[in-house]
Amino acid sequence: MDKVLGTLNGMEFTIGDSLLELSYLIAALLFVYGLKLLSHPASARRGNLWAAGGMGLAMITTLFLHKDTAGQGIPSLNMWVIIAFIAFGAVIGLIIARKVKMTAMPQLVSLFNASGGAASMLVALLEYPSAAAGDVGSILVTVLGLIIGSIAFSGSVIAYGKLDGKVGSIIKPFMTYLNLLLLLVTIAFGAFIVASSTSPAHMVWAIYTLMAISIVYGITFVMPIGGADMPVVISLLNALTGVAAAMAGFIYSNQAMILGGILVGAAGMILTMLMCKAMNRSLINVIIGAFGSAGAAGAKHEQGTVKEIQLSDAAVLLSYSQKVVIIPGYGLAVAQAQHIVHELDMLLEDKGVEVKYAIHPVAGRMPGHMNVLLAEADVPYEQLIEMDAINPDMPNVDVAIVVGANDVVNPAAHDDPSSPIHGMPIIDAHLAKNIIIMKRGMGKGYAGIENALFFNDKASMLFGDAKSSIQKLVNEIKSM
Ligand code: TAP
Repeated sequence: MDKVLGTLNGMEFTIGDSLLELSYLIAALLFVYGLKLLSHPASARRGNLWAAGGMGLAMITTLFLHKDTAGQGIPSLNMWVIIAFIAFGAVIGLIIARKVKMTAMPQLVSLFNASGGAASMLVALLEYPSAAAGDVGSILVTVLGLIIGSIAFSGSVIAYGKLDGKVGSIIKPFMTYLNLLLLLVTIAFGAFIVASSTSPAHMVWAIYTLMAISIVYGITFVMPIGGADMPVVISLLNALTGVAAAMAGFIYSNQAMILGGILVGAAGMILTMLMCKAMNRSLINVIIGAFGSAGAAGAKHEQGTVKEIQLSDAAVLLSYSQKVVIIPGYGLAVAQAQHIVHELDMLLEDKGVEVKYAIHPVAGRMPGHMNVLLAEADVPYEQLIEMDAINPDMPNVDVAIVVGANDVVNPAAHDDPSSPIHGMPIIDAHLAKNIIIMKRGMGKGYAGIENALFFNDKASMLFGDAKSSIQKLVNEIKSM
């Protein structure tokens, strides 16, 4: 098994080494395949399993085939300690993942990000003193891993606390300046450590100081961010965790860690940018801007009358339609109306009505929020149509039912250049022949602005909590 095949960089290269590298390549392919499957709700579960399989393979082969620079494998005592901690972590992870509610998923993701960041931070902290003097490359990746890992760790802990209502926000203008100062100090101190690369053993105090500054920066970076912006920040912290893991991979020259980290970093960054684009905002604006307050000031106040619709009229209108599109939003999640809305769609389909759901990329408060909710209620995936695919068909739709959505159907995004959401893509509910809007009152959405759709001649409001309104509508249709 351990036959020497040749030498690489002056070190012997054995069959075990080849198998280890091959397993990393297979693991990387499994990560990529898993990511591809994650792009559709129907295959996402399998995608997770394939990627987890790749990670499991890399962990097992590392345990049994990894050798240090002296050609020694992991000592058996260390091996047992590692296995015990992996088992401990796996059991805790399994219990938490089974118990967590769908609505608390962002908190769980934050905790996972915090663990990833902490792991990379500790790797950098432990490996720095043994870095070879003058090896600028490895000291640079160690310092970067420490900074990014520490920020991801403390930022994610604060994000978890804020999402869970345990930590408040500090929204003060001075926070922007404080954060800028801390970021500059962190970068300058990191550069100082890299510049002093000739004697890493004497710079241990500096590496601990850098860790402390980075941790403080992670806290102050997340503290001022508004509650509803947290999904974007969590996605950004997730990307940072990936980059930190890749840096740790460079420290160990471990291909699986490098590739896995880069994939997480790239996927997280793409998701962050997609969310910003779908909200028509820049990342800088999310990090330092207060969307709701600025938006309310710039928004045009709509005048006009709002029509209400009686349950019996809504029931008749829907039952005699050919095409109905349901547009879910944040209010659907608040009301937990996903099961009853599915009952409504099945009832209408039994009457020969074609029912589809129009999914806006940032409806709700987290990526894929509506997909997750509707999947929980077993709504078939084929019925969920993405915004770009459904919009061309909206003029042919007999009734658009807006369930707790507001900003994602606001026509000001198209026709009011002074609106803060101008330019944001929306679901064209206003083009449908009739519009029924279900919400509790005239409350604003996340952007804090008026919605001209509510005053549209074709629109009628069905006021009330979405779950109870739909329940009453279902009863009414059944009694017809
Ligand atoms: P919003 O614009 O936030 O509007 C939700 C509406 O739901 C409110 O106007 C509210 O009106 C209504 N509502 C609340 N509770 C309800 C209940 N129990 N029953 C019925 N209606 C209820 O939602 P949206 O259209 O989904 O837009 C999402 C917004 O969040 C966008 O501005 C987006 O940019 C932002 N955002 C999204 C994400 C992601 S990743 N999804 C992340 C950050 C920010 P009433 O109070 O009158 O009932």
